[in-house]
Amino acid sequence: MVAGNWKMNGNSSLVTEFENAFNEITFDFDVLICPPSPYLNLFKSDSLATGGQDVSEFDSGAHTGDISTSMLKEFGCKYVIVGHSERREDHGESNALVALKAKAAINAGLIPLICVGEPLDVRESDTVEAFISAQLDALKDNLSVAEFEQSVIAYEPIWAIGTGKTATPEQAQEVHQFIRGYFASIDSELAQGLRILYGGSVKPDNAQTLFAQPDVDGGLIGGASLKVDDFVSICQAAN
Ligand code: 13P
Repeated sequence: MVAGNWKMNGNSSLVTEFENAFNEITFDFDVLICPPSPYLNLFKSDSLATGGQDVSEFDSGAHTGDISTSMLKEFGCKYVIVGHSERREDHGESNALVALKAKAAINAGLIPLICVGEPLDVRESDTVEAFISAQLDALKDNLSVAEFEQSVIAYEPIWAIGTGKTATPEQAQEVHQFIRGYFASIDSELAQGLRILYGGSVKPDNAQTLFAQPDVDGGLIGGASLKVDDFVSICQAAN
């Protein structure tokens, strides 16, 4: 899977550029763009799926600014990102809230891309596994094996996001293997089938070596998903 997260970037012309490119080209794995929600309705191409960047844990009601799972579905989304580090940091989202959002998404028939990842001080203090475990524990407390089977995990080390400082393929593999091992202790079949994406400064020139790692099943792409040529090159690397 290759997923683009436009964050709060892009416009309708960029949607048209992506639509034109993906009308000409199809990949035999899942490719999706998560644009800002006002642009979701403009994506029509069959070879490019869409996802929200966040979703409410509630079905409806007095939650100004939030978007529900049914709204995302009505606008054609198959996926939704939950627990992105920017939501966790900018909007104070806790591990427990992220788990509720993932559950709401799954119950509505959306596939959540659940983000985990450590900040720089955790990486430097060599406590990455404990940090990721705490993020996963909150998910485990709320989601069943069947629900995890409808989920994708994205490992995004915060120090690599938007910094140009990509995790080395070995660093990515080490954490991905740890995450798969964590799920293997819940259910071995679940762990084998689980897609674990890497995110953090993935570019056309580093995508192939990252994706070649045995436990890296694709990428969640930020900056490079805003340039159609770069995004297509990253999809070709995945291919
Ligand atoms: P960059 O690819 O810009 O580092 O962003 C990664 C990311 O946060 C995707 O969700």
